[in-house]
Amino acid sequence: MNSFHIPSSRRRLLKSFLAGAGGILAGDIYAEALTLTPWQTEGPYFPDHLPLDQDNDLTKIIGGTAPAGGVITEFGGRLLDLDGKPVTDAAVELWQADNNGCYIHSRGVQKGKERDPLFQGYGKIATNEKGEYRFRTIKPGLYTGRTRHYHIAVVRGKERLLTTQLYHAGEPQNDRDRVLNHIKDEEQRLSVIRPFTESGSGKGELVATWDIVLGMTPPDPEERRGRRMGPPPGGRPPRDGAPPRNE
Ligand SMILES: [Fe+2]
Repeated sequence: MNSFHIPSSRRRLLKSFLAGAGGILAGDIYAEALTLTPWQTEGPYFPDHLPLDQDNDLTKIIGGTAPAGGVITEFGGRLLDLDGKPVTDAAVELWQADNNGCYIHSRGVQKGKERDPLFQGYGKIATNEKGEYRFRTIKPGLYTGRTRHYHIAVVRGKERLLTTQLYHAGEPQNDRDRVLNHIKDEEQRLSVIRPFTESGSGKGELVATWDIVLGMTPPDPEERRGRRMGPPPGGRPPRDGAPPRNE
């Protein structure tokens, strides 16, 4: 299956169920129909050396004397399968640029910039019994050629179930970002652009919810060639040693 959304048979089932229930709530509930989270490129900066601290709070590192620089953001939600059931035996990984646009990668320091030594850069959290995950981090810094983005992977043991990216709604660079706009299906593209709103902490922190829906097959290897769109089914991609690009 290489469908972007819920298979049509399931949609028909849902629609007929709602019609049978009187259809009063049909519009609202049908609008909740799950959109499978699209695969996106891993990019060149998955950490080639993992930090000692790998928890889900990237704003603080073990032994750090202060929080990382940048605007604090939090996001979380549920990890779901394509039936909408929580996935409880997986983990979500996050890696991203620090406030200076730099990654914890040996080639991840942008020209003329310095890496923030107080930013963890990578974190991982197992989903709980409700399939929930959560991260506390910072708004990713900008670097040449990309809009702000978080890199996300879902893993079960050593198996990579999904590689994708998450975006802030309203970022002016979103419209020009070639990785984001490579997602041609509008519902899918919108599913990875989330509104981050004031958390109410009074400190300017931002918060968003984001459910991740597993079930989309990885991109076709032919399509992937030269574009590094994701791993082959059932495994991580080999590092291809290509020079860093703006991903
Ligand atoms: Fe990136």
